Amino acid sequence: MAKVSPARALALKALLAWRQDPESHLEQHLKGLPDPKDLDLAYTICRGVLKEKTFLQKVVGRYLVRKGKNLPLPVELILLLSVYQRLFLEKIPQYAIVSDAVELCKEKKPAFSNLVNAILRNLERDLESGFDPTKEPLSLEERYSHPKELIDLIKEETKDEALIEQILKWDNAKPKAFLRRKNGSHEECLDVKAVVQSDDFKNGKIYFMQLWSQSVANAAPVKDGDQVLDLCAAPGGKSLALLDRAKIKLTACDFSETRLAQLKENFARLGYANAPNITIKQLDARNADQAFPPASFDLVLLDAPCSSLGTIQRNPELRWRFKLEQLAEYAALQKSILQAAKTLVAPQGYLLYAVCSFAKAEREATDLLRQDKTWTLVKEKLTYPGEQDSFDGGYYSLWQKN
Ligand SMILES: C[S@@+](CC[C@H](N)C(=O)[O-])C[C@H]1O[C@@H](n2cnc3c(N)ncnc32)[C@H](O)[C@@H]1O
Repeated sequence: MAKVSPARALALKALLAWRQDPESHLEQHLKGLPDPKDLDLAYTICRGVLKEKTFLQKVVGRYLVRKGKNLPLPVELILLLSVYQRLFLEKIPQYAIVSDAVELCKEKKPAFSNLVNAILRNLERDLESGFDPTKEPLSLEERYSHPKELIDLIKEETKDEALIEQILKWDNAKPKAFLRRKNGSHEECLDVKAVVQSDDFKNGKIYFMQLWSQSVANAAPVKDGDQVLDLCAAPGGKSLALLDRAKIKLTACDFSETRLAQLKENFARLGYANAPNITIKQLDARNADQAFPPASFDLVLLDAPCSSLGTIQRNPELRWRFKLEQLAEYAALQKSILQAAKTLVAPQGYLLYAVCSFAKAEREATDLLRQDKTWTLVKEKLTYPGEQDSFDGGYYSLWQKN
């Protein structure tokens, strides 16, 4: 067999693994290449296929004679990743795309290698004669490669055509990374690898944190000496921002042992290993009212588990996992955590509720506070993805106990 580029071989392997376990994260499957350039290309291809899946399927579909008949999964993925490279990546020679596609197909499903070759060559011929697939009539589902169920939800939530398109466009745009310095300032990170190798990063002067998350942490009223409880804290971004803002006594909890391990690693890098003002605890936040005495915290941060619909730009696979019924499940979980959390706030203390989702269902938990006269709403913010430059979508509200 002719040699296939390691990047394309890994991209196919990762996409197949992801399709077999759609709950997994793409990154989990993108490992094992010694050359970082190959790994980067594999990552770009996988991300691109997930972001443009429906559109790519439409392009491939144009060349399938037996419409409606499913191709074997490896063959479909080989076609999608090849068409993605041809339409979206510059600098990759067409002959390399086709030859690797045919070789990969010979390895996985040899009977389809002529078909793959023919489709890619016919597409090339059409492109050379001026065919532009983006100019074809496309539905929103095809143009922005989102499942119909998700588009229907966005329509239902926003009821605004321009906003719907803004969200879909934002989800498919290239994500930017941001850094936060210990003094609370932030900056865009243009080269993640260089930052990770920098002394400032190694010495814990900076950490990665998206602007939306920074805005949530900045909304928390903290002052020196405050007792702060972060109920869903891992991997620790918002807790770290709070620690930088005031000399607080922090209790950071999370349900997940694995994520708590990441939190501990992040805390250690930022110079908080074994800090006397920090307690880390594994806890199901639904039982938080049994784990701590009532009214024992000046601030409770509830950065609740949620659908993460506001972060699809950074997690393209999320859209394909979306199921409408998950929203009700998250809403029930959020309510039961908030029910426990509200008992822990001291008089005049605060509760900050946040989700990285713009779905109405995921802010319903706060009705528990809205309908209770002991609570005053101090501040509330809903941001749709892309509404504010470089911000994910999300919701937070800050409440004070009378
Ligand atoms: C949005 S993330 C938190 C992000 C974190 N606050 C930060 O800024 O880095 C939500 C977290 O909730 C945790 N979680 C999910 N269910 C939970 C539960 N029942 N009790 C406590 N934590 C839970 C997840 O493990 C996850 O780490």
